[in-house]
Amino acid sequence: MCGIVGYVGSKEAYPIIIKGLRRLEYRGYDSAGVAIGNNSGISQLKQKGKVADLEAYAADKDSSGSIGIGHTRWATHGVPNQVNAHPHMSGDGKLSIIHNGIIENYASIKTALQAKGHTFKSDTDTEVLIHLIEDIKNHEKVSLFEAVRIALAEVIGAYAIVVMEEGLNNEFIAARKGSPIVIGVGRDEYYIASDATPIIEYTNEVVYLEDGEIARVNSGEELEIKTIENESKTPYIHELELSLDTIEKGGFPHFMLKEIYEQPKSILDTLRGRINPETKEVKLGGISDYEQKIMNADRIIIVACGTSWHAGLIGEYLFEDFARIPVEVEYASEFRYRNPIIRETDVVLAISQSGETADTLAALELAKEKGATILGICNVVGSSIPRLTHAGSYTHAGPEIGVASTKAFTTQVVVLTLMALGIGKEKGTLSNTDYHQLITELELIHEKVEKVLKTNDQIEEIAKEFKDVSNFLYLGRGYNFPVALEGALKLKEISYIHAEGYPAAEMKHGPIALIDDEMPIVVIATKKGNYEKVVSNIQEVKARGGRLIAIVTEGDKTVKELADYCIEIPNCFEELTPLLTNIPLQLLSYHIALMRGCNVDQPRNLAKSVTVE
Ligand code: F6R
Repeated sequence: MCGIVGYVGSKEAYPIIIKGLRRLEYRGYDSAGVAIGNNSGISQLKQKGKVADLEAYAADKDSSGSIGIGHTRWATHGVPNQVNAHPHMSGDGKLSIIHNGIIENYASIKTALQAKGHTFKSDTDTEVLIHLIEDIKNHEKVSLFEAVRIALAEVIGAYAIVVMEEGLNNEFIAARKGSPIVIGVGRDEYYIASDATPIIEYTNEVVYLEDGEIARVNSGEELEIKTIENESKTPYIHELELSLDTIEKGGFPHFMLKEIYEQPKSILDTLRGRINPETKEVKLGGISDYEQKIMNADRIIIVACGTSWHAGLIGEYLFEDFARIPVEVEYASEFRYRNPIIRETDVVLAISQSGETADTLAALELAKEKGATILGICNVVGSSIPRLTHAGSYTHAGPEIGVASTKAFTTQVVVLTLMALGIGKEKGTLSNTDYHQLITELELIHEKVEKVLKTNDQIEEIAKEFKDVSNFLYLGRGYNFPVALEGALKLKEISYIHAEGYPAAEMKHGPIALIDDEMPIVVIATKKGNYEKVVSNIQEVKARGGRLIAIVTEGDKTVKELADYCIEIPNCFEELTPLLTNIPLQLLSYHIALMRGCNVDQPRNLAKSVTVE
């Protein structure tokens, strides 16, 4: 949610910042801007729209200088336009700021500053913050570093900020609370960004700023880090393990398609080293110390949002089936605000691709406060959730840049499957035979995923037939009910077609009224998994003229006779089918969105990593 980037050193800052903004554009893309410092002062260039619009606007303007900051925005306060775009300047034009997050008490700070004579150009909370820093700096006669620290002590909210000052051409100040900041350490130069993607082509040495920390980033000096409470901290340099090709399209027209096709590999990467080749025992190093806690938990509460919440629902089936532990799956945003009953014997498990989702983080904080064991399943290494939890497992999907989540979902399901199998075996709630059959299937599931990906051309043809409809219904039962929800979410977020997912049997309790000969219905009707009952649901749809796209097990004859289109997936244990059935639905959304002329990787109004409530 908003991407921030900066450079200070001896190179030209503008090209580095523009390139960084393009890499971070998945975090927000309604306006963009840069501030560049040189001997004539700070010049700000901002434009509504995408980074490409900013580049076109800046083409004939002076952007020279070896220090700069840049921002790509997902609007919170104020409509997306040039005035509200970041960076924002102080009243005297000497300070410039970029900000990701929300200053909750900005209104009262603004009123106090207005009483002192400050006037504001934009509707943003960010402009209020830079005026506050300016006010403190001028009245208390302190350095920028100190002014930022004092200002942040007054601020309530979440932020990642970078501030630069006219004439200070080798230094900027950065701070974080609730929104990520990574500082890349070069030779006499520093890079700064919301995540490591703009940094990895320059250096693999990074410092992750912790919540409540402020950094003085001076190209000629060591990093200086303090807390808001003025306590000095020693920077800890991490080695990045990312490679450049993981964040580029690699010949695919879109990140989303690349990431769909990466799933066999990301599944394998997620499984790697976690199943003992001889004993077939599951070993999730990150949570091994908490295995007993999970086994003896009264309840597992899964908290997540969006696609990750759908993965959590599959987790519920898996844990209850294999490990016989009661599971509740909660929208993090509801859970945190409803005074939930949390006991010390509960295990609260957060699922999040980004590891930064504000509601999920807050739900975990609440659970920790109440004494529960808190665990995480995240993709982004070093993000906030893994830092908060007692323990957790990474998904190893690699960077997911398409805003619509695809490979993150499958790998979350893989980790949940490993956890549930491991606990089930340990507890003895899963028979040895079942355990070994399931593990063997899981180890080879990537081959079946490869096979499902071969249905792409067939799915493209189906997409042609349905690209102009206004509504879609997705139905599934058992393990494939969450897949139906996920299929509907994927379609609506990137194609803007209204789509709903339902448990198939619920159809007759309402949604059946929607069915006519215009209405496409996607049904997941794989063998086992209440197959006969799903067939009855299909008959009900057919009787009302609905157009049916069915996901079936290869060799199926019954559904083939009823459905208008059938997409076959290889035979597989029911418990693992979501890893396969989900893939045709991702491809269907992709092709429909593309044919409707939608921006598949950057759907309107959305952004990856939702760091605001
Ligand atoms: C959908 C999607 C979102 C995210 C949700 C949670 O394709 O990407 O629904 O799943 O915003 O994000 P994370 O997993 O980062 O917590």
